[in-house]
Amino acid sequence: MQRRKFLQSAVTTGAGLLILPTGTIAGTNAPGGKLNIGMVGVWGRALAHYDSLKNENIVALCDINENHLADAAKKYPGAKTYVDWRKMLDQKDLDAVICCSADHTHAHVATWAMNRGLHVYCEKPLANSIEEARVVRETYLKNKGKLATQTGMQRHADENFDRIRELVRDGAIGELKAAWAWGNRKIPRPGYLPAEGQPPAHLQYDLWIGPSPMHPYNPGYFSGGPGANCLQWNMYWDFGSGQVGDMGSHTMDLAWNAIDADRPTSITATGDEFHPDVTPVMLEATFEMPKNDWRPAIQLTWCQGGAMPKNPRDYVDLGKIGHGAMFKGSTGFIVCDFTTRLVMPYGKGADMTYYKPRAKEQLHAPMGHFQGQWVDACKGSLKTTCNFDYAGTMIETMLLGLVAYRAKKKISYDAAAGRVTDCPEADGLLKRKYRDGWPLNG
Ligand SMILES: NC(=O)c1ccc[n+]([C@@H]2O[C@H](COP(=O)([O-])OP(=O)(O)OC[C@H]3O[C@@H](n4cnc5c(N)ncnc54)[C@H](O)[C@@H]3O)[C@@H](O)[C@H]2O)c1
Repeated sequence: MQRRKFLQSAVTTGAGLLILPTGTIAGTNAPGGKLNIGMVGVWGRALAHYDSLKNENIVALCDINENHLADAAKKYPGAKTYVDWRKMLDQKDLDAVICCSADHTHAHVATWAMNRGLHVYCEKPLANSIEEARVVRETYLKNKGKLATQTGMQRHADENFDRIRELVRDGAIGELKAAWAWGNRKIPRPGYLPAEGQPPAHLQYDLWIGPSPMHPYNPGYFSGGPGANCLQWNMYWDFGSGQVGDMGSHTMDLAWNAIDADRPTSITATGDEFHPDVTPVMLEATFEMPKNDWRPAIQLTWCQGGAMPKNPRDYVDLGKIGHGAMFKGSTGFIVCDFTTRLVMPYGKGADMTYYKPRAKEQLHAPMGHFQGQWVDACKGSLKTTCNFDYAGTMIETMLLGLVAYRAKKKISYDAAAGRVTDCPEADGLLKRKYRDGWPLNG
């Protein structure tokens, strides 16, 4: 009732406000201007979102674990509950969706939601195949003027990301030549878990499998703590992309934010011996990134699980940085982690006279609260830092590393067409096959 009154008064006053898909009025925390949000996945990572949503309306909850669903329903007694997100997305009063389910459903939920005119916050990784990354991104680009999207790469809110970008762009290391990002997480697994028992009554296992090929139930897939259960399934090809999509989504972001990259033209990768069930623990993937309007073509490399870039000098041990990035320029290196950075000038010309630090007012303005930025974007600004364009090209690139690894040779990529042009086997690895009833672009 209150909401209707507010709508009426907004109409009478003629305020130039943005009307959201359900008729909600834009304007942060405006009375009646709250978002109507549906959550896919309500436990684990989802718990980290509750606080930033406290001023919004949670009108729909979906989880394949009915115990988790019942707990969330106690917190949001007014919300409708679902075990199947496809049904939740038909709820008519939704404005926006937050997706915190398993990786192999992210691109589906995101695309279906955008196709229904809904804003989306999707946890990382945004996609589990090249095709998924492209469809999510293209669907967003089609709707860019009306939908707000954000990918759960919340470390991006640390101001260190901006400072690194400014150093690179302002020439603190001269002309950019190469960049690396790496992560040291290792979760080796022998293969999909063997069949063990029956799914408990509260767990909709078939819906958890969703679009992926069926694998037998094993309680091990659900045995992790809140927010860390993804480490029980994300290394299996049908459920995730291992550290490429996991910490890779956060750590490559340190580099991606500073190099203004599109997709690579060619990719080489090496790593552990190929396993049909499990993504590699160790992987090194090198991407040839085309030049842009401020830098030449560069090599970008992702290292994980023991692979590492060479130390810039013996006294700098990159192995001490669990998740980090390094940039090499014509006159220096930048070495960084998520919150700190180090500039190392090198060579005769490296006197730093060519570099003028920015005045305070010329620094990138802090983005503020990461989830909050998306809420504000849904209410009118439409401005988000890790939207599905930015995060889509990044995950497409990262996943191409796994394609080159499987192809076991250098592959050339036509980003406009989304095709590997010189290796039919690799081209065949750009898509996943889905079970009936789970189309990607639904
Ligand atoms: N941004 C970050 O820093 C961060 C941190 C942790 C996890 N994550 C991401 O969040 C996602 C979830 O991770 P998690 O550890 O919470 O996993 P999880 O296995 O605990 O799943 C989270 C919740 O989603 C539910 N769920 C799973 N599949 C579903 C489906 N198809 N429909 C509805 N509900 C479903 C689960 O039952 C659970 O309640 C992963 O993609 C992970 O990469 C991001």
